[in-house]
Amino acid sequence: MSVAMQPSAIPQLPGLPILGHLLDVRRDRLSFHQRLGAQLGPIAAFRIGPRRVVMVYDLDYIHTILVDNDAAFEKTRALRSYLRPLLGDGLLSTLQERHRGQRRLVAPAFQHRRIAAYVETMAAVAHHAQARWRDGEQLDLMHEMHQIALEIVGKTLFGVDVQTEGAAISDALVTALHSVDRMIRAFVPLPTTWPTPTNRRLHQAITVFDELIYRIIDQRRASGEDRGDLLSMLLQATDAETGEPMSRSQVRDEAVTLFLAGFETTANALVWAWYLLAQHPQIAARLRAEATTVLGGRPITLDDLPNLPYAMQVFKESMRLYPPAHSIARQPKQDTQLGPYTIPAGTIMGISVYSLHRNPAIFAEPTRFDPDRFTPERERQLPRHSYMPFSDGPRQCIGNHFALMEGQIVLATLAQAVQFELLTTAPVRPLPLITLRPAGPVAVQVRRVGS
Ligand code: HEM
Repeated sequence: MSVAMQPSAIPQLPGLPILGHLLDVRRDRLSFHQRLGAQLGPIAAFRIGPRRVVMVYDLDYIHTILVDNDAAFEKTRALRSYLRPLLGDGLLSTLQERHRGQRRLVAPAFQHRRIAAYVETMAAVAHHAQARWRDGEQLDLMHEMHQIALEIVGKTLFGVDVQTEGAAISDALVTALHSVDRMIRAFVPLPTTWPTPTNRRLHQAITVFDELIYRIIDQRRASGEDRGDLLSMLLQATDAETGEPMSRSQVRDEAVTLFLAGFETTANALVWAWYLLAQHPQIAARLRAEATTVLGGRPITLDDLPNLPYAMQVFKESMRLYPPAHSIARQPKQDTQLGPYTIPAGTIMGISVYSLHRNPAIFAEPTRFDPDRFTPERERQLPRHSYMPFSDGPRQCIGNHFALMEGQIVLATLAQAVQFELLTTAPVRPLPLITLRPAGPVAVQVRRVGS
């Protein structure tokens, strides 16, 4: 394909008149991003209708955007406006000027000391889940992993059991993700306030979250109890300047953000991990052998975690192949220099984490599932930002250690008790909404193993 290129002009893939690459993006956005990097990298532009998008593949440029010069880049206007009805001004979508203060407020819930206290809950939730499954039973892994991750976030951060609301929350979340994705990929996105069917569905989903979250907040406020969890922290937090407590809607925004960011990503990572393990029985057997040797059937404790390295490697390698946050987007606030390229203010910039993780120059045979890529020695040798499931810099995932620990615990706990056999031979397609989900149910049959 011919490429129009001038000195220091960003290479651009010629697309269809008017539509640009809208069809490519709709057909298979993940492969399109990979192709673009392979053909034009380290930086490459394309169009979705009237919008120009600049993709960045070079690891040093990525460092500039996320770390060195992060203050020059903001989350995209589109993402903020579509996510805003759902997440409000919570930590994930808030503007930079308010970010640092908000992050300081939420951070204590994710300190090492606190996360360590979550081990028992994570192990208990995973243990109870597998105890419900009978030998030969057919399950949808999506449903099961979402239920586990939801219960873990509910109990650890909010001190509530959301098991009964689980299905409603998952359904509302899927509706919201599809609605937001439809807006992002629209030829001309319409404001979320317009009464389109997509917007109506989005607002119905938001009502489900609001009812749940406000109920949790109001119950805790009424009880006056300090449980020392995230919710108590949010309710006690005061504004550094005014000394005022956070308003009910501020608490709501932080809580919804942590709820959603905290369960959907981890749940998807777990589904992909089991999907890969079901196709690689030898790797699954090694995971089970580690878990059985270390645990001998008892629940995991904090002290066990260093002795379960393979479970961690499996989880990391799964996120390499299927990173739940498959791409990261930013917009420069002003005209900004990236190497020899000038990026005009407001340009939508994308980092395809999916493409980075499948770069054959870094990961030999990139489509092969090989958890040994993440032995501590080999992981240390990876170039900076070549593996980045949690992003990097000041806006990197605040729940990264929480998520890694949860992945390790859930994988080891379930591997002790069950294995999953895929009921479909057709490959499960990844669906890149805001998160990378399987395009449909992942049907498996349970085989109980061990005691
Ligand atoms: C495998 C699981 C997870 C993955 C792959 C993941 C990924 C990410 C990524 C890539 C970002 C940065 C987004 C950007 O720069 O635009 C992010 C931010 C965030 N994540 Fe996670 N996440 C996971 C689990 C969690 C958990 C368990 C929590 C909380 C319980 C959480 C809460 C957040 C929050 C609040 C932010 C915004 C941070 C900020 O802007 O300061 N995430 N996550």
